[in-house]
Amino acid sequence: MTRTPVNVTVTGAAGQIGYALLFRIASGHLLGADVPVNLRLLEIPQGLKAAEGTAMELDDCAFPLLRGIEITDNADKAFDGANVALLVGARPRTKGMERGDLLAANGGIFKPQGKAINDHAADDIRVLVVGNPANTNALIAQAAAPDVPAERFTAMTRLDHNRAISQLAAKTGAAVSDIKRLTIWGNHSATQYPDIFHAEIAGKNAAEVVNDQAWLADEFIPTVAKRGAAIIEARGASSAASAANAAIDHIHTWVNGTAEGDWTSMGIPSDGSYGVPEGLISSFPVVCKDGKYEIVQGLDINEFSRTRIDASVAELSEERDAVRELGLI
Ligand code: NAD
Ligand code: LMR
Repeated sequence: MTRTPVNVTVTGAAGQIGYALLFRIASGHLLGADVPVNLRLLEIPQGLKAAEGTAMELDDCAFPLLRGIEITDNADKAFDGANVALLVGARPRTKGMERGDLLAANGGIFKPQGKAINDHAADDIRVLVVGNPANTNALIAQAAAPDVPAERFTAMTRLDHNRAISQLAAKTGAAVSDIKRLTIWGNHSATQYPDIFHAEIAGKNAAEVVNDQAWLADEFIPTVAKRGAAIIEARGASSAASAANAAIDHIHTWVNGTAEGDWTSMGIPSDGSYGVPEGLISSFPVVCKDGKYEIVQGLDINEFSRTRIDASVAELSEERDAVRELGLI
């Protein structure tokens, strides 16, 4: 049976994450090896030529699943009939820029894109915001799309999740595949909280296996939370292939489900669980099944975790207040 192609829109397609992302989408890693895709690439006018070059390379791969590529600087066209939207293009912080200026500049991108999604995307649209500040950009886009169920707007903390698993594996000598139920709480920023108290290593409680509070507080948490800055320092550019890989993981898990007994981390609109104010786009532990996600309920949150979750959530609340004052939500 021939499957209908899925329309996947990628913004910031000519950027470095876009370059690492598009070939994997086209080769079937985003949705599955039997799912054909149409790519829609949205760029600003200055990015169109480079996007065309990337499209030429995509053509040259002769991917059997790639049914079409459209390149545009018009958001209404880019999101027309979109089933999956990866919002990667964003305004980076430049020297001397205040946080308010950054939020305002990104509001100018994510508000119209949210509206275009509202007006033109397919009914089953799923949105992942990668462009920073990802959680608050997702909130801006979601607020501009009142006709789309709020839960379809998500922000990426899967890179943080993957980073935390890798650090934990290195510390304990465990295989990455033996680590389950790790959680990133809060914002994709230096305040995020990677939580190992409910994580398991080959079926044993990870915090007990580690049994090293100093490492947890002084090494693990800051290493994961500041990894983005460390990559920039080392590479001279922000993470790209690992960010693209996490975006692939995020959508693949959302659509195809979490493994039995495991969960993942996604930035999603809060329903008030774990004391996170309703509506904030915060990272939670989630299980995915049948194309939907649900927050894992009933976890005991100890004082160590509570303080850190609250700090990250407070930052998200401040960002929400700031964009509200700017009239962006
Ligand atoms: P980049 O500068 O290489 O590329 C960004 C691209 O977006 C550029 O080609 C630019 O022309 C385009 N763009 C800008 N405004 C646009 C708009 N309105 N519509 C469409 N395209 C637009 O940046 P990058 O390295 O690809 O990173 C992209 C974003 O992802 C940054 O905000 C970065 O901070 C963020 N990021 C997030 C995570 C995460 O874990 N959430 C990880 C890494 C990077
Ligand atoms: C990352 O976590 O690698 C990025 O969010 C860093 C950045 O500022 O782009």
